Amino acid sequence: MKTSKVTIHTLRQMKERGEKIAMLTCYDASFARLLDESHADILLVGDSLGMVIQGHETTLPVTLDDMIYHTRAVVRGTRRAHVVGDMPFMSYQSGIEQAIDNAGRLMKDGGAHSIKLEGGAQHAELVGRLVAAGIPVMGHIGLTPQSFHQLGGFKIQGRESGAAIRLLEDAKALEAAGAYSIVLEGIPMEIAADISAQLSIPTIGIGAGAGCDGQVLVIYDLLGINESFKPVFVRTYENLSTRIRTAVDAYVADVRDGSFPSFAESFPLVAGQQPSTPRKRASVSAIAHVGGCGPDLPGEADDKAEGDEPVAYSSPTRSDP
Ligand code: KIV
Repeated sequence: MKTSKVTIHTLRQMKERGEKIAMLTCYDASFARLLDESHADILLVGDSLGMVIQGHETTLPVTLDDMIYHTRAVVRGTRRAHVVGDMPFMSYQSGIEQAIDNAGRLMKDGGAHSIKLEGGAQHAELVGRLVAAGIPVMGHIGLTPQSFHQLGGFKIQGRESGAAIRLLEDAKALEAAGAYSIVLEGIPMEIAADISAQLSIPTIGIGAGAGCDGQVLVIYDLLGINESFKPVFVRTYENLSTRIRTAVDAYVADVRDGSFPSFAESFPLVAGQQPSTPRKRASVSAIAHVGGCGPDLPGEADDKAEGDEPVAYSSPTRSDP
């Protein structure tokens, strides 16, 4: 498994070698660290964050500042993967100069390694200008969620007559303009396989079958966070909605019955103090009473070495105080 940084050249070589590319959406540093450790090749800071993070019905309300904020967080958590920042709705549609400025911000302020934009041949000139300015571009054709209202909803594309040819033309126009990769979303697998075979740049499919050079899923879908969203193309690898609910139910119950926090999960006044000294414990509670002190739990600190100081909240991105 390659541990050096994934670049747009790595991705091209992967296609040449017939190695499949694994891409996932990602919106924060903690997930970025985990997905990067699992060797996902590309982390897409997708404007899908408008739906899965912000709770909107579509991706349309997402702003460039939202994208910069999340891209920065993902870049901080990433060591190996290539990080793609998605250009949000109306950040590139109203003019080439505006688009270059905004893509530049996503790279400079957000730290994205490349950008993605939706649309085919109509954006070929823009893609050429971005690439000439040193901004690598990933295209996105088929079901393009920013065109939700124009498409009449999230519908499979490419089934009507002539649509397959248009999709192929779009893909070829993006490749000719210098795009380094193209997302194929929500199109019949035969068309996606044909496009993938005809391009020398890698295609990344979502709802586009196994003939693409790589695959992408929204990380929240893969983890089963939203149990009411189960489209055919999503494989749910975990049922996190149930697991999270079970864990949080247990936490709420522990808080309510006073069993959390235990003595071992608290800071005694005297470091290393053992729980079997109720008198001392009472004095701690008298000095700093915050309510909800649980009963003594015999043996709750048994696994702590004598003199161990309880550890304060820590995460991989923070060192202990
Ligand atoms: O915004 C997004 O997450 C995307 C992927 C689904 C390709 O564009």
